Amino acid sequence: MNKIFISPSILSANFAILGKEIMNVLKSGADMIHFDVMDNHYVPNLTFGPIVLESIRKYQISAPIDVHIMAKPVDDLIPLFAKAGATFITIHPESTYHLDRTLDIIKENGCKVGLAINPSLSVNVIDNVIDKLDLILLMSVNPGFAKQKFILNTFKKILEIKKKINLIEDKKIYISVDGGIKFRHVMPLLQAGVNILVMGSYIFNNIDSKIIIKKIKNEIKNFKNISVV
Ligand code: DX5
Ligand code: ZN
Repeated sequence: MNKIFISPSILSANFAILGKEIMNVLKSGADMIHFDVMDNHYVPNLTFGPIVLESIRKYQISAPIDVHIMAKPVDDLIPLFAKAGATFITIHPESTYHLDRTLDIIKENGCKVGLAINPSLSVNVIDNVIDKLDLILLMSVNPGFAKQKFILNTFKKILEIKKKINLIEDKKIYISVDGGIKFRHVMPLLQAGVNILVMGSYIFNNIDSKIIIKKIKNEIKNFKNISVV
């Protein structure tokens, strides 16, 4: 899996002009959109739900959208987000009593299956469900807020995840990292084997998101050139 995606997290977008904000980052070269759902229960913050996703799709946004659900209970939300236009649905294992079943619900609803791993949680949580996963979202901050500091231990966990993926026959699982990513983390993350870079405040809170995305794209190009040599 050598595709690399820039996935802006709209948590840091201006919600008053959300459609335009999304259009802008996609036009600037972002590959997908990260949609952070928070419930003030599983995490101490509150964001948006399926109705907002539906509006985004109605606004002619056809790029893949990863719906990162930080809400508990989660099962009943899955069909709603699937219907509203989610491409990936990524959930946290702590948000369900029956992880295996919850992952099946995502698939049955026609979405790609993602599992998020919090900073304190061992990557071994994937061991008995790895064959059901399309995406593993490694949290490099504790979920709930944008603009937090990147937790460096994430690098160790990326390597552990890579080892596990290499042991299975079908290796098509995206490794996504979410939280606190700045430009200086991009090259090390790519070298460690990450496919999806989730970036919120670094993209949306910058003066010009277009220049930032261009800079990141260039770094991805540099990485690819180095890898070929
Ligand atoms: C944290 C969210 C992240 C995060 C990304 O709970 O899942 O998507 O807000 O934003 P930055 O890049 O600002 O950490
Ligand atoms: Zn997220």
